[in-house]
Amino acid sequence: CVLGVDLGTSSVKVSAVTADGTIIAQEGMDFPLQQPKPGYAEQDPEDWVSATTVSIVRLILNDQIKPEDIAGISYSGQMHGLVLLDENNEVLRPAMLWNDTRSTKQCEEILAKMGEKFIDITHNKPLEGFTLPKLLWVKENQPEIFAKAKTMLLPKDYLRFRMTGNLAMDYSDATGTVMLDVDTQQWSQEILEAFDIPESLCPPLVRSIDETGNITPAYSEYSGLSTTTKTFGGGADNACGAVGAGIDSPTKVLSSIGTSGVILKYEPQKETNYRGVLQYEDHAIPDAFYSMGVTLAAGFSLSWFKKTFAENEDFTSVVESAAESTVGANGLLFAPYIVGERAPYADADIRGSFIGIDGIHKRHDFVRAVLEGIIFSFRDIMDIYEENGAKFDTVVSIGGGAKSPLWQQIQADIFNVKVVSLKNEQGPGLGAAMLAAVGLGWFKDVQECTKTFVSFKDVFLPKPDNVKKYQRLHEIYKQIYPSTKAITA
Ligand code: XUL
Repeated sequence: CVLGVDLGTSSVKVSAVTADGTIIAQEGMDFPLQQPKPGYAEQDPEDWVSATTVSIVRLILNDQIKPEDIAGISYSGQMHGLVLLDENNEVLRPAMLWNDTRSTKQCEEILAKMGEKFIDITHNKPLEGFTLPKLLWVKENQPEIFAKAKTMLLPKDYLRFRMTGNLAMDYSDATGTVMLDVDTQQWSQEILEAFDIPESLCPPLVRSIDETGNITPAYSEYSGLSTTTKTFGGGADNACGAVGAGIDSPTKVLSSIGTSGVILKYEPQKETNYRGVLQYEDHAIPDAFYSMGVTLAAGFSLSWFKKTFAENEDFTSVVESAAESTVGANGLLFAPYIVGERAPYADADIRGSFIGIDGIHKRHDFVRAVLEGIIFSFRDIMDIYEENGAKFDTVVSIGGGAKSPLWQQIQADIFNVKVVSLKNEQGPGLGAAMLAAVGLGWFKDVQECTKTFVSFKDVFLPKPDNVKKYQRLHEIYKQIYPSTKAITA
């Protein structure tokens, strides 16, 4: 079997997967997040190592996975988190995570110094979430630590280092540092020089399916793993999630509803540049890329509504009550900007709205408007793709949206594309396992592996009458942002 390690922000999950794509065992463990000041989000990298090791030990002891049967391990990691090591490869300070927002000033400095050139090189705008602004924050505020720093890693790469002794970073995570030149696929000399960052800080780059060394004798002793087990590059959690959901061609798009929502598209070319309106990253599939747009309050809009207006009801019955309303919620529209928005409008201050309230409206109309509003916001991102010439034949729905047939039909009708869900929704851990399976040579490439590991169910086709109604309503929905921009938090 292979192990897929899914290193998230609150926990790690390790899945053991056989060559036919069956998950035979899974173990995981939580770890804490430190928020010593508003906007700070830090973790102790040692916690990732111990939680992963405990999960692996449990797989061996509880689930009877034989160490010598584990041919390979690969990793999916929370993106962008800055880990700094000194000359002895000791951790210099707690990791600054993707959701740490202290580096607004550094983002402004990057734009002031490099302007559009920065977006030409990285295909992204400098955002607080990304790694470079965090590195510059350390340089400005903790110069003694910056001076001692010899290597910069991302979370899953530190975990790999502790298991193998190898310092490496895969391309999908490297794009998330916004220090990689997307065009040349090398660390950007221009960016490094502009901010006086030694190139030696940047680790060697590997592909997600490349071998990154065997388990060391020391880690073998600690975890029970065998030194014959190989490790592989792995990737960013969004890239691995896309691999695990079968997003392996430009005609498929991922629609993911968690607290926030993501529309993610496979991109065949490095030349595409959305100028930072959408994020652009290397895929975990070699020589491919992906872009994504985030709706900040997707599932969060629905849980806010339930908490506020239906506290004692269960989630499913609240969602399904929307069936009592009509397509278009009897004329009620909802814009899900209740904690600000990220794409297509990068605006932290905008707030949400219900528009068109009528004396006849019932609660189920409000529920339906919330479900539809979240998908209208996704539709805005799809519009950007279609304006750029994209044509989709399948939307793969995961997360909350895949749990309700009604919500899947709403997606099919608003996207005007076939919507499917996954037979076995396992998230980024399965994607990581697939990268190890391909790295081991079990499959010719990721696409071949997808045929065995990923299958779809529940096909929802667009209904032409509903599509027409939603197209008209989406035109009205698009006016909400410009018309309500002034109503801020
Ligand atoms: C993407 C991002 C998050 C993290 C979560 O840019 O910041 O999705 O990857 O782990």
